[in-house]
Amino acid sequence: MKFFILAGSHRAEAASLKVARYVQSILEREHAGAAVHLYSLSGNPLPLWDEASGGAPDALWDPISAELKSADALVVVTPEWGGMVTPGTKNFLLNCTADEIGHKPALIVTASATRGGSYPVAELRMSGYKNNRLNWIPEHVIVHHVRDNLNAPDGAADMTREDSATRLRLRYALKVLAEYGKALAQVRASGVIDHQTFKSGM
Ligand SMILES: Cc1cc2nc3c(=O)[nH]c(=O)nc-3n(C[C@H](O)[C@H](O)[C@H](O)COP(=O)(O)O)c2cc1C
Repeated sequence: MKFFILAGSHRAEAASLKVARYVQSILEREHAGAAVHLYSLSGNPLPLWDEASGGAPDALWDPISAELKSADALVVVTPEWGGMVTPGTKNFLLNCTADEIGHKPALIVTASATRGGSYPVAELRMSGYKNNRLNWIPEHVIVHHVRDNLNAPDGAADMTREDSATRLRLRYALKVLAEYGKALAQVRASGVIDHQTFKSGM
């Protein structure tokens, strides 16, 4: 199974990129045969969606598009910024087409320096999928106190309860995501999906 991970912070030293890398390490070590592509928005590699070009320049987007098309499931990692998803994450989802990610399952993982992280979950659940038909799964994971957690190696003796619980929750959610990855492949292969007639969602 192939996974695409989006790390949605624009910051160069993003704490949520650490989360995305931790997710990658779980998938690569604990999911037999998994291939993982991690794409980070650190440094703002993609320009804002633009009407004239109809999206990111081909030279930038084509390699991303190829990775998205070959993925069975996605993980979208975003920090909470001002009670929002990062603009880069929304811009990325605006660039994605149903041909690339339609009816593929996606796990939302958010990060907060404190006890935040709920708002971007709510925001993604109500947006970001209408035309590209990404399928948010019902599990999500919020990484609280992100600077304090996911630093020590797994199994470290002095791990806090929050750190340990976060790791368990991530592992569980990724297992659920993988099952949706298998299940939704049948939906895409069913012959029912019709993005020619129904180009945009309602
Ligand atoms: C511009 C900005 C706004 C932020 N707003 C919030 C917020 O509304 N709620 C919150 O819990 N954390 C907020 N944070 C803290 C981030 O959640 C925290 O820095 C975390 O490390 C994730 O950001 P990063 O991946 O960009 O490092 C904000 C951080 C930045 C840079």
